[in-house]
Amino acid sequence: MPSLQEQIQAYEQEINAFNPAGAAELEQYRIRFLGAKGIVKTLGAEIKNVPAEGRKEAGMQLNGFKQLAEARYQEFAHMSGDTNDSNTDTDISMPGTPLPIGTRHPLRMVENEIVSIFERIGFSVATGPEIEDDWHNFTSLNMPEHHTARDMQDTFYVSQQPDWVLRTHTSSVQARILETQPLPVRVICPGRVYRNETISARAHCFFHQCEGLYVDKNVSFADLKQTLYYFVTEMFGPDTKVRFRPSYFPFTEPSAEMDISCTVCGGSGCSLCKHTGWVEILGCGMVHPNMLRNFGIDPDVYTGFAFGMGVERITQVKYQVNDLRLYSQNDVRFLRQFQKL
Ligand code: DAH
Repeated sequence: MPSLQEQIQAYEQEINAFNPAGAAELEQYRIRFLGAKGIVKTLGAEIKNVPAEGRKEAGMQLNGFKQLAEARYQEFAHMSGDTNDSNTDTDISMPGTPLPIGTRHPLRMVENEIVSIFERIGFSVATGPEIEDDWHNFTSLNMPEHHTARDMQDTFYVSQQPDWVLRTHTSSVQARILETQPLPVRVICPGRVYRNETISARAHCFFHQCEGLYVDKNVSFADLKQTLYYFVTEMFGPDTKVRFRPSYFPFTEPSAEMDISCTVCGGSGCSLCKHTGWVEILGCGMVHPNMLRNFGIDPDVYTGFAFGMGVERITQVKYQVNDLRLYSQNDVRFLRQFQKL
């Protein structure tokens, strides 16, 4: 029986000569030397048989041996996932582990759909800044500083710059278009808006709108109705009915709110339509002459219509999403449901 020292020397030679071709040989080495029943462990257990006077030296020798065995393994550790090794039994033709891929956000999908419906009838997309000045968000839209309509919207003001706000609606983009674009204009303006609301199932401090604006000679309320009717039938199906109710917005005159027949119950009454058979989906009207004048446009020559809708609202009506907070919670179980739409 060779002494512990002789055994260690023989194994050290083997280790120094070790030069694996791939992962399988490396694994064999690991099991043989470093495994739970491997040589390092077995020799370690033999130390108790060494006479007391030589034990210290043998312990040091064993330590060195262990370090060598581990260092050699580490030298080749990069090979451990190596599938090019002919000794492995990995089937490289197996399908890989699927990586979950993201999906479009439901609000983005609905926004895209709204935009593409209007693009089909000649509208083009316009956008504007989310940090707006007072003029574009309020004053130019026929809402002067002390106009009561400003109370309709709780506004986030930028503290260092009281003239700046986070836009409260996409109607600000109307103002920017009328200021810069030659007439006629026919635009659809999607974007994020902000209001100082406490977050709940029915209110949020940010949400999304799509604004529409058409200004030309001879644009009438009939054009507005037909355009929105087209939108509704494309978005919600050809059987959807619409109705207009008189309303008030400072930037339109006359103004209306548009309802559609309930998409859930078809009109017989349910919780979405609060048992009325109708759900409100947007505000609209003929562009106020004062607003046209604010941009040097003669209201006796040009007329126009405008409308604004909430993207969350359209999504709620279309897909029965009942809690606004779901849109920003990033819960993949919610988001994945829209994958195939
Ligand atoms: N800006 C309005 C809002 O945020 C929506 C709106 C109503 C826009 C009527 C319009 C409009 O362009 O004509 O509630």
